[in-house]
Amino acid sequence: MKAEQPARAWWKEAAVYQIYPRSFCDSNGDGVGDLQGILGKLDYVQRLGVDVIWLNPIYRSPGVDNGYDISDYRSIDPRFGTMADFERLLAEVHRRGMRLVMDLVVNHTSDEHPWFIESRQSKTSPKRDWYIWQDGAQGGAPNNWGANFGGSAWTRDEATGQYYLHLFAPQQPDLNWENPAVRDAVFDMMDFWFRKGIDGFRMDVISLISKAGYADGPLLPGGQYGDPMPQCANGPRVHEFLREMDRRVLSRYDCLTVGENAGNTPELACRYAGFDAGELKMTFQFDLMDVDGGERDKWNACRRWKLADIKSVMTRWQTQLDGKAWNALFWENHDQPRSVSRFGDTSSEERRVRSAKMLATCLFLMQGTPYIFQGEELGLVNRHFASLEEIDDLQTRGNCADRLARGVPMENVMAVVNYISREHARAPMPWSDAPNGGFTTGVPWVPLHPGYTGLNAENQLRDPDSVYNYYRALLALRKGSMVLLYGHYALQMPESEQVYAYTRTLNGQTALIVCNFSGQAADCPLLSAWAGRPPALANYAGGPENRTLRPYECAVYLE
Ligand code: NOJ
Repeated sequence: MKAEQPARAWWKEAAVYQIYPRSFCDSNGDGVGDLQGILGKLDYVQRLGVDVIWLNPIYRSPGVDNGYDISDYRSIDPRFGTMADFERLLAEVHRRGMRLVMDLVVNHTSDEHPWFIESRQSKTSPKRDWYIWQDGAQGGAPNNWGANFGGSAWTRDEATGQYYLHLFAPQQPDLNWENPAVRDAVFDMMDFWFRKGIDGFRMDVISLISKAGYADGPLLPGGQYGDPMPQCANGPRVHEFLREMDRRVLSRYDCLTVGENAGNTPELACRYAGFDAGELKMTFQFDLMDVDGGERDKWNACRRWKLADIKSVMTRWQTQLDGKAWNALFWENHDQPRSVSRFGDTSSEERRVRSAKMLATCLFLMQGTPYIFQGEELGLVNRHFASLEEIDDLQTRGNCADRLARGVPMENVMAVVNYISREHARAPMPWSDAPNGGFTTGVPWVPLHPGYTGLNAENQLRDPDSVYNYYRALLALRKGSMVLLYGHYALQMPESEQVYAYTRTLNGQTALIVCNFSGQAADCPLLSAWAGRPPALANYAGGPENRTLRPYECAVYLE
């Protein structure tokens, strides 16, 4: 018999809205979104019914990886505004009863961070040991590791002839967490933001901070580079480091923390974020994002996902964490394409709307905290890219360059880009049908989706049947129902290739969620037990008829 109800906590009941500041709203016409822009849209965010805003990095940064290369952790990048703007934003978020979570990027800094500038000066620099420096081997890099953004994970530095490690771009040198002075500096910095009043951190690639060793890794597709992950993900001291972080900083604040954990599994999630682990509150898992990926590398190939894989991934995570740890639920973030293009159907406007609502219903009513990426609540879709020149993102460009160098035809490379690139998520928010969707009065840093004249927030706020208004209803339903917040999950109709159905149960109460992932009608015998009872939420007026779900139909029944 399962423990009846996990202990209540605000971060379990919350829904999180992720803002990618660069693409949210531009207040000063320079084409880049900013903090004043966010301030002007807080009513919109609050109206949706979310409780927490997670901001992608807004710290001072050269912007090589759009803020994930930080050169000063304690100041706001001038692109986004000033510290006074930030403080005002934080106060306004709190005034509305919401909370604000920042991005913590401490696996690496920018190469323009003063720590690295000092570190690279000489082998005897007091900060030398703040980063990971090694001699070359056989006239080349210390090992065969490839960087996440293409090329080698090592760059030779002229000043000393040694190589430094960067699991991402060369402008993102990895910090050496083995050095206690690095940990002191990071914990101090976190404290600085907590003292300002923030409510938590989303921790960038936090499972990579402890490296097990530096031997060659197994060859990645293409055979040019080795995979650093076996030695970098979930390394030997990562739990010790996180417990130290908890002891010295996190445990002193009532905060939400969520780890971005490469290589996560349910077992690891319980270690990192078990209710008694003393580390994090929850972790993101990537199994769901991998259901259509190529082997060990999303750029290698893409395959059509199967509903059976989605069910088995989510069922594993739902059942193995229940009572032990908390799930973080997402279809989208700034590193993913738009979910309705990927898992839904964009072949007609009707199908876009129905399938976007269905996807939200399916995932966000599971046990866990929903994370909604800006524009997901509008059912925004991918753009089409005709050539690599249209791509700003360095991850996409770097990985495409590697594949082209291996002789992969451009046509195949572009097909993968159009399917999976994170560039899709980064198109600016369409607020209205004004020029550039009202995102900016200037020239946007990357173009909007050309469909913004029809697909925009203003239209959806007006339309009671919009994706936006459905999200509002969905979040309100979840928030008001203990069974939807805390109930135990059980998969139903496991064999169906069209329908994802599950129940949530708590203290004798049951909720049933049924979702047709296909464009054809689907038999759903489970519905007979609920005949005559109206659904609490549905994406077709009146809900399902005759034990059958129409294309992309979903419904929620509450006892
Ligand atoms: C993961 C972030 O989500 C991604 O956007 C970033 O490029 C890398 N970490 C490097 O910080």
